[in-house]
Amino acid sequence: MTMIFPEGFQFGTATASYQIEGGATEGGRAPSIWDTFSHTPGKTVNGDTGDVACDSYHLWDSYHLWHKDIDLLADLGVDSYRLSVAMPRVMPTEDGPVNEEGLDYYERVVDALLAKGIKPTVTLYHWDLPQYLGDKNGWLNRDTAYKLADYAKVVAHRLGDRIETYTTLNEPWCSSYLSYGATEHAPGLGLGPGAFPAVHHLNLAHGLMAQAVRSEVGAKSQLSVTLNLQFNRGDADAVHRLDLIGNRVWLDPMLRGYYPNELFAITKGICDWEFVKDGDLEQIHQPLDVLGINYYSSGLVAMSDRPQFPQSTAASTAPGASDVDWLPTPGEHTDMGWNIDPKGLYDLLMRVHNNYPEIPLMITENGIAVEGGDRVVIEADGTKAVHDPKRIAYLKRHFEAALKAIEDGVDLRGYFVWSMLDNFEWAFGYTKRFGIVYTDYETEERIPKDSFKWYKRLIAEHAIPQEQR
Ligand code: FCB
Repeated sequence: MTMIFPEGFQFGTATASYQIEGGATEGGRAPSIWDTFSHTPGKTVNGDTGDVACDSYHLWDSYHLWHKDIDLLADLGVDSYRLSVAMPRVMPTEDGPVNEEGLDYYERVVDALLAKGIKPTVTLYHWDLPQYLGDKNGWLNRDTAYKLADYAKVVAHRLGDRIETYTTLNEPWCSSYLSYGATEHAPGLGLGPGAFPAVHHLNLAHGLMAQAVRSEVGAKSQLSVTLNLQFNRGDADAVHRLDLIGNRVWLDPMLRGYYPNELFAITKGICDWEFVKDGDLEQIHQPLDVLGINYYSSGLVAMSDRPQFPQSTAASTAPGASDVDWLPTPGEHTDMGWNIDPKGLYDLLMRVHNNYPEIPLMITENGIAVEGGDRVVIEADGTKAVHDPKRIAYLKRHFEAALKAIEDGVDLRGYFVWSMLDNFEWAFGYTKRFGIVYTDYETEERIPKDSFKWYKRLIAEHAIPQEQR
């Protein structure tokens, strides 16, 4: 097997606004549903919030004084950096004026990246919905989709074609099922099948946002969406159900312009889908240049004989999938309890490619919080280091899986490691470290881990390093 990545393949790292920025009350930023959620006792581990996070708002805002993180990206040699824009910074009130200060901030970051030859990949919505939209039922409210489209237009108007790729949404599975169906993510309503309107409104938002961006930049920037597609093994019926509820519920409307009939069949009695209005599917089905896939682990599933919905609303199950059981996965696991399954990435890429051959793919997130966490050590020469061989091993096996998929015909355009630096890991707060750069949250010092050096070498050689140096 060749270990060389194709020419033009984009290597990158990724972060998201609420997870790194801090500066939560500065620059005219309004609260988001994640501010509210993380400030509610018991919702996040240790009561952690994104108030300060990696302090990127300050470090990047005073770029000429600091430029630390951008220098690190340049040192790493990435082709692209995936960041997200926070709607609460750009549109802090529902009907008031756009906050130019918020746009200025992102413009400075984008220009600083470009000055270093790094192409910005911008996610427009990575879960930090303004609280004022949350107060009006958030994603359960159809109007939210139209508000997001207005916001997308404002951002694309300002940043224009300086952005290599605009991504409408990050992982709508999480911002619907996990946020409205279950209680893990903001707003954490635990509505079970009541999450389906959020699913549809996110699909609608995607289509409206895609059109809004296109109207500003035409074909000069690429347009995409990022999905955390589910890859499960086990009982065929269970796998099929979860494919409908977790994958085709996004892929079919976005890429084909319909919801699969089988989806309606398996949700009969728990959801009437009346919130899908005439013309919605045409709005959702917009031409895309690339499909982003986030992959971390796989599942093992079986059909369950538990009572069916709506009686069963186990928090860890997506609504409509409550007649499926998740079985313990074999093999090694990460600090998140997720299994390590690089073959799942290969199989998933092959499956998406075979079912939707027309759309090029991009891995927009893959990475690991290593079991036991990361430790800073002082080397003999007095420098600080973080030795993270397990992260290197994880990344190596997943990059190999991606290369094999390319060899087997998948049009894979790039790979973004999650994450550039340790950050606020949602409900887990600061207890899970995904970075290839260590963040000291006391001092905001950045310490590149061994995996940073390994990835730097991979990027420079355009090939997977075969032995660890
Ligand atoms: C994904 C999210 C990202 C990060 C990783 C670990 O689901 O998109 O923000 O939290 O998981």
